[in-house]
Amino acid sequence: MSYQVIIPAAGQGKRMRAGKNKVLLQLKDIPILIHTLRVFELDDACKGIILAISAGDEDHFSSLLKKYRIKKVTSLVAGGNERQHSVYNGLQAAKKEGIVLVHDAARPFIEKRVIHELVSVAEKDGAAVVAVPVKDTIKKVNNFEVVETIERSSLWAIQTPQAFRVSLLEEAHNLALVQNFLGTDEASLVERLHIPVKIVEGDYDNIKLTTPEDLYFAEAIIKQRDY
Ligand code: CTP
Ligand code: MG
Repeated sequence: MSYQVIIPAAGQGKRMRAGKNKVLLQLKDIPILIHTLRVFELDDACKGIILAISAGDEDHFSSLLKKYRIKKVTSLVAGGNERQHSVYNGLQAAKKEGIVLVHDAARPFIEKRVIHELVSVAEKDGAAVVAVPVKDTIKKVNNFEVVETIERSSLWAIQTPQAFRVSLLEEAHNLALVQNFLGTDEASLVERLHIPVKIVEGDYDNIKLTTPEDLYFAEAIIKQRDY
C-alpha cells in the first residue's frame, strides 16, 4: 500500500478569529500543522506530501518543516482563493499514478489505522471518504423556520482524508473548473462524475479545528491520547 497526500494549509482561519492562519496556532507547544504533518511523516505508506500554502508564507513554512524535521514534503504549492483551488494547485504537483489523499491541515488527530483502511478502499473502488454517523437531529431551515427533518440514519458527517485514484480526482477537478462548480470537499466533485464514493467509518475525535472552542476539544483529545 502506498499513497501521496495533498494538504491544504492556505486558509485564513477566519472563523477561528485568531488573527492569523489557525494551522500555525500551537497545541502542546507544537503548531497544529506540524501535528498533522507528523501523522503522514511517520506513516511508511505515505510517499510524499504536497503542501498548499499562502503566497508570502514560503520562508516561514519552510523553516517550520526544517525545525520539526518533516522530510516528506516534496512540493510547496501556492494556495488559491478557495480551498478547492488550493487542492487543485496541489494536484498539479502530484505524481500521476496510484492513490492521492486530500487532508486538511486543520485536522491533526487522524489516525494511521483509518488512513490505511481508507487507502485500501480507494485502491479497490476509486473513491472513498472518512466519515462518522451524525449524532444530532439535522433539519433543513429557511429563515429560522424548519422546512424539513432529514432522516438521521442516512446522515454521515464527512471528514478528511478523502482518497481517490489520481486520474479520477483530476477528471473531477477539471469538470468542476469547466462547470464553475465550487464544492466544500473533493468527493462532491467526484460525485458529479456519477462515480460512487465509498464511506469508511472514522472517529469522532478527528475534528477540524474551525472555531475557538475547538481548541478546548483539541487540548482534551491530546491529553487523553497522552502524547
Ligand atoms: N484552505 C486552503 N486554501 C484556502 C482555504 C482553506 O488551503 N483558500 C485550507 C485551510 O488551511 C484548512 C483546510 O483548507 O487546513 C480546511 O479549511 P477551513 O477549515 O475552512 O480553514 P480556513 O479556510 O482557514 O478557515 P475559515 O473558513 O474559517 O476562514
Ligand atoms: Mg475555509
